[in-house]
Amino acid sequence: MFKPGMKSYTIAGYIILLMIFIVTLVLEEKEIISFIWVIVIAITAIGIIAYFTVVRLVGPLEEIKVMTSEMAAGVLEKEIVIQSNNEMDELATSINFLAQQLRQNMVRISEERNRAKAILNSMGDGVIALDDQGRILMINPILEKTFKIDTQTSSGKKSIEIIRNYELDQLLRQVLRDKQPLSCEIKFLMPRPKVFKVYATPLIGNDDCMVGVVALMHDITERRQLENMRSEFVANVSHELRTPLTSISGFLETLLDGVVEDVQTTTRFLGIMKQETNRLTRLVDDLLKLSKLEDQKITFKKQPINISKVIYQTVQTFKPQAAEKDIQLHLTIADKIPQIKGDKDLIMQVMVNLVDNAIKYTPSGGKVAIKAGVVSENIEVAVQNSGLGIPKESLPRVFERFYRVDKARSRDAGGTGLGLAIVKHVIELHGGRIQVKSSSKGTTFTFRLPFK
Ligand SMILES: Nc1ncnc2c1ncn2[C@@H]1O[C@H](COP(=O)(O)OP(=O)(O)OP(=O)(O)O)[C@@H](O)[C@H]1O
Ligand SMILES: [Mg+2]
Repeated sequence: MFKPGMKSYTIAGYIILLMIFIVTLVLEEKEIISFIWVIVIAITAIGIIAYFTVVRLVGPLEEIKVMTSEMAAGVLEKEIVIQSNNEMDELATSINFLAQQLRQNMVRISEERNRAKAILNSMGDGVIALDDQGRILMINPILEKTFKIDTQTSSGKKSIEIIRNYELDQLLRQVLRDKQPLSCEIKFLMPRPKVFKVYATPLIGNDDCMVGVVALMHDITERRQLENMRSEFVANVSHELRTPLTSISGFLETLLDGVVEDVQTTTRFLGIMKQETNRLTRLVDDLLKLSKLEDQKITFKKQPINISKVIYQTVQTFKPQAAEKDIQLHLTIADKIPQIKGDKDLIMQVMVNLVDNAIKYTPSGGKVAIKAGVVSENIEVAVQNSGLGIPKESLPRVFERFYRVDKARSRDAGGTGLGLAIVKHVIELHGGRIQVKSSSKGTTFTFRLPFK
């Protein structure tokens, strides 16, 4: 359908104006009206046409101008309402459509931004992004927490000013310079010692030019610690195995050389070799026990245990050993100690290791006291012995594998240094805990096991 637009209205206006002029000029020529009337009629006609032009064109244009200014300022909710049926209406409809499209795009962009932010926030790895000048654009929460910084204050600053690490700074600079991804392991000392595997990648913009660099930081501190512990463990085991083996092979060689002729020395040598073999067997047994305990899938039997009975039996077996060293063995067990649930053999092992240590590290003529009682829903067992005690600096380490305060003495006594490590594992497996106190007068190992 034909719609008379603004253009046709304007042309029609000008034609009418021209015709009015011609008519008034003709009338003036024929002296029907005076020249003054011609001017009055012309001004009135121009005024009327100007009025309609303003109403139809300038008014809607003003409205569109206000609306587009608001759109530029980010207000996209409003709509232009133009009642007339002309090109202005079409323009307003187009602008309203543009605003609607912009609104939808803004919603999509903010949704995408929120999604990206949620991913960055929930990431277990650290992420840092820099612009092409090496200034911080963004740091995700895990990095903020690790380095005790925040994006707001660090934004726009150089990475070296915020995360004071020269190696990281060099890595990011190199990626910015070479535009190639790089990765390396970096040690951080502050605020806590940590090791990160850092993967830095150039950030490429739409027109294929580099707009910055993003680095993913994966915390490998625990893995490194475990690897160190493992290699330390292997070194310790090898050392522990080598000592008795060297001794056995030494005595064997001497015997094979035929240097030793008398039966007495041969018997003594064989005795030592037997002792060393026993030690090797114990060492392997203890290592197996420890590895079983450390295996989370250990099938440990939960049976009711009468701990009083276990303690009593253990003490009985150690009586001859104590008597040999002239050590007084005291046993105090409170009445009606409730049963606990767990593995009887493992709990027995704990008692054996603790009482064995107590007797082993008490000088002749000393005292060993074992007490058992109930303390706030726990069974508490204390194994106390007189003696020189354990030096303060060694106390936190006695539960470590292979740790021995006096290596030579422990080895002479046939110790493997694994006894207390086994004790700690068993107690913790049963939901309890163990602690040690020591002074120049003696040492006390106390453990608690929950009976509920
Ligand atoms: N009651 C104690 N008094 C003094 N020192 C102790 C006592 N118990 C343990 N220690 C010290 O702690 C170290 C570690 O003990 P642990 O029982 O783990 O190993 P070990 O007795 O040397 O060998 P193992 O028990 O494997 O035969 C011992 O070498 C010893 O130096
Ligand atoms: Mg021991």
